[in-house]
Amino acid sequence: MELMPVIWLLVCTDLVLTENAKDPDLVCPSEPIEAVRSKDVVLPCHLEPPTDASAETVSWRQGEHVVHLHQGGKDHPSEQGERFKGRTSLFSEGLTEGNLSLTLSSVNVHDDGRYQCSLHTESLNKMCYINLSVEPLLVCPSGHIEVTSDDDVVLPCHLEPPVDASGEAVEWRWGNNTVLLYERGKYIDAEKKDRFKGRTFLFTERLTEGNLSLKLFSVPLRDNGTYQCFFRSKSQDKSCSVILTVDEPEVMGSDEPVTAEVGDDVILPCHVEPSANLTKLTVEWRCNNSMVHLYRSQKDVPEMQDERFRNRTSLFHEELVHGNVSLKLTNVTKEDAGNYSCYIPRLTSKVKRGNVTLNVVSPDQCTCPDPHKKKKDDESCHYWTLGLGLGIPLVVCIVIIFFLWNKYVKNRGFAEPGGENDNHVEKVTNIPEGE
Ligand SMILES: *[C@@H]1O[C@H](CO)[C@@H](O)[C@H](O)[C@H]1NC(C)=O
Ligand SMILES: *[C@@H]1O[C@H](CO)[C@@H](O)[C@H](O)[C@H]1NC(C)=O
Ligand SMILES: *[C@@H]1O[C@H](CO)[C@@H](O)[C@H](O)[C@H]1NC(C)=O
Ligand SMILES: *[C@@H]1O[C@H](CO)[C@@H](O)[C@H](O)[C@H]1NC(C)=O
Ligand SMILES: *[C@@H]1O[C@H](CO)[C@@H](O)[C@H](O)[C@H]1NC(C)=O
Ligand SMILES: *[C@@H]1O[C@H](CO)[C@@H](O)[C@H](O)[C@H]1NC(C)=O
Ligand SMILES: *[C@@H]1O[C@H](CO)[C@@H](O)[C@H](O)[C@H]1NC(C)=O
Ligand SMILES: *[C@@H]1O[C@H](CO)[C@@H](O)[C@H](O)[C@H]1NC(C)=O
Ligand SMILES: *[C@@H]1O[C@H](CO)[C@@H](O)[C@H](O)[C@H]1NC(C)=O
Ligand SMILES: *[C@@H]1O[C@H](CO)[C@@H](O)[C@H](O)[C@H]1NC(C)=O
Ligand SMILES: *[C@@H]1O[C@H](CO)[C@@H](O)[C@H](O)[C@H]1NC(C)=O
Ligand SMILES: *[C@@H]1O[C@H](CO)[C@@H](O)[C@H](O)[C@H]1NC(C)=O
Repeated sequence: MELMPVIWLLVCTDLVLTENAKDPDLVCPSEPIEAVRSKDVVLPCHLEPPTDASAETVSWRQGEHVVHLHQGGKDHPSEQGERFKGRTSLFSEGLTEGNLSLTLSSVNVHDDGRYQCSLHTESLNKMCYINLSVEPLLVCPSGHIEVTSDDDVVLPCHLEPPVDASGEAVEWRWGNNTVLLYERGKYIDAEKKDRFKGRTFLFTERLTEGNLSLKLFSVPLRDNGTYQCFFRSKSQDKSCSVILTVDEPEVMGSDEPVTAEVGDDVILPCHVEPSANLTKLTVEWRCNNSMVHLYRSQKDVPEMQDERFRNRTSLFHEELVHGNVSLKLTNVTKEDAGNYSCYIPRLTSKVKRGNVTLNVVSPDQCTCPDPHKKKKDDESCHYWTLGLGLGIPLVVCIVIIFFLWNKYVKNRGFAEPGGENDNHVEKVTNIPEGE
């Protein structure tokens, strides 16, 4: 009777010991492990209670792929899946203490998924599973973006691989200012005096594709600077940045004067550099203070223009989006000559005006040959040469006819004085020149 407790104790101890020795458990964490791309990650797995596993078969798998195999006291890299070669290791000291954790280096998107950690002994066949979730990267693909002031711009930012961001927090900051804050499906209002208010847009329908790009409307010069895109979820807080340079456009006329002949159509060049969308702006063409052409509220306003230019001017409307405000002037007159200016009063710029000088020449005003002359003038020179070419044989012809006639008259006895003959020839010579 006195021995009974001792026996019980022995039996119990034996039971516990055999249970422990026979059946250690393999334990994996229940929460998924988060990994950052291109960094290393440890996939934890251990025996409970700690048991020496260094002589046993320890394997890690992802689906069908062998990630790592340790057998007969050593690793077997030849058994590994191609993707995992050279990227895995066990803790050799840890194995003796039942620590089967795996280190996976340079994590990439394909590593995302479910892993199996297993232990085989003669008497045991244990396994557990662990999920590895590879954190997406937040990418601002264009580090530097240029925009002309008053134009719209998209600052690109996205998650790679595409992960649904619609339930998380997205923020854009400019210096210390919040440009936009979007959290769990709605905008969070910033301060009342927000300089970006009403000028920002998030492509919310594209958040599910991990696209966090920001659109800014009518960018003023002061929006210049560094913008940061933030993505925040329970487990992540990421950001990337974009430098936005807002360029001041300049109106450029032409340093070279434009030369035209009376009756010609001519283009007076003027454009904005760097290019800007001028569709919504007012454009004024003037000469000597009189209005040559006015474009306002997206249409021409002929009522405002000087009578002399009525029905003779036009802008290239389809070119306005490219910042081209060149003016076409038809049927040029002598009085059209002068200094023209194109003026864009509401352009956000110090240089809102460009100058072009128009020279008008008469068609007969020809200094041939002149390599600097326009093609048109060359053509008129050709006409002149043509005139000479036709004129000289004509004169010769007339002179011959005159001599024949003179001879005929002489033969009849009506001789005339020589001086009068010369005058007659000059008069005839003048005829082709008038052409
Ligand atoms: C791992 O992810 C799968 C689906 O991908 C899920 O069924 C499983 O419950 C997850 N396991 C753990 C431990 O998170
Ligand atoms: C296994 O070893 C790794 C590396 O030393 C360590 O981080 C981890 O905590 C260990 N696991 C256990 C259960 O001791
Ligand atoms: C942003 O705020 C911090 C502290 O509030 C301040 O030290 C820093 O100068 C500010 N930076 C700018 C660009 O305003
Ligand atoms: C994100 O959306 C914007 C606007 O639609 C687009 O310009 C940009 O290319 C998109 N980015 C990606 C990575 O799809
Ligand atoms: C715009 O920003 C760039 C760089 O951030 C700077 O070099 C440039 O001077 C700024 N321009 C203006 C007009 O502030
Ligand atoms: C230019 O501005 C007009 C008016 O705002 C707009 O309708 C048009 O789409 C813009 N064009 C471009 C190329 O940005
Ligand atoms: C301009 O053209 C319109 C019709 O196209 C015509 O009615 C008007 O008389 C013209 N004005 C001048 C000054 O030629
Ligand atoms: C502006 O448009 C006119 C007409 O299409 C063209 O002749 C001219 O070269 C353009 N100017 C610029 C700077 O693109
Ligand atoms: C060009 O203008 C002149 C007067 O300046 C006029 O007599 C002539 O008809 C006009 N030609 C055309 C094609 O409009
Ligand atoms: C501009 O003024 C000059 C000199 O006063 C004159 O010769 C020219 O005809 C004028 N041009 C226009 C388009 O008014
Ligand atoms: C046009 O401008 C030039 C210099 O830019 C000046 O010499 C000339 O007198 C001006 N012509 C008129 C008609 O104003
Ligand atoms: C255009 O001419 C005006 C005066 O004739 C002058 O003030 C201005 O600076 C000129 N603009 C350019 C770009 O040369």
